[in-house]
Amino acid sequence: MHKTAVIYWSGTGNTEAMAMAVLEGAKEINPEAIVFNVSEISVSDALSYDTLILGCPAMGAEVLEEEEFEPFFHELENGLSGKNVALFGSYGWGDGEWMRDWTKRTALSGAKLVETEGFMINETPDAEGLALCRALGKKAASVSL
Ligand SMILES: Cc1cc2nc3c(=O)[nH]c(=O)nc-3n(C[C@H](O)[C@H](O)[C@H](O)COP(=O)(O)O)c2cc1C
Repeated sequence: MHKTAVIYWSGTGNTEAMAMAVLEGAKEINPEAIVFNVSEISVSDALSYDTLILGCPAMGAEVLEEEEFEPFFHELENGLSGKNVALFGSYGWGDGEWMRDWTKRTALSGAKLVETEGFMINETPDAEGLALCRALGKKAASVSL
């Protein structure tokens, strides 16, 4: 069985709520799918998974969160070649620039993007947004079978 992990950072809980719904969807396909806050996992452990579903909101000025998630991703991207990767996150007032940049970086790393565009939700996910998160998790976990 291929291994699937959801790894996220969240300041006020919106991306965390997305992550939990993504995990639910992934578990429908792979019951061993697991979720980590980015503070709970090392880069080398993260790279032991075949499919990585990564979540981070837009922070700073259209960037990934800079204290924990950006350093983690900066190191991770060197090892992403050939991995299945899906991206998601919540945003506020922007137009999704952080996600476009993040998607480009991920593609350049040689990862296989599950979706050509990262999945974004404005602020707190509603029921429809959570259903889309579950669908993303399900699709990402299916890709690696
Ligand atoms: C310090 C800070 C910087 C932010 N920068 C942006 C930004 O550049 N673009 C944007 O669309 N939203 C920005 N936001 C809004 C957050 O992305 C939004 O509130 C999101 O829902 C937070 O997700 P979280 O609850 O998972 O932390 C920022 C929020 C904070 C607190």
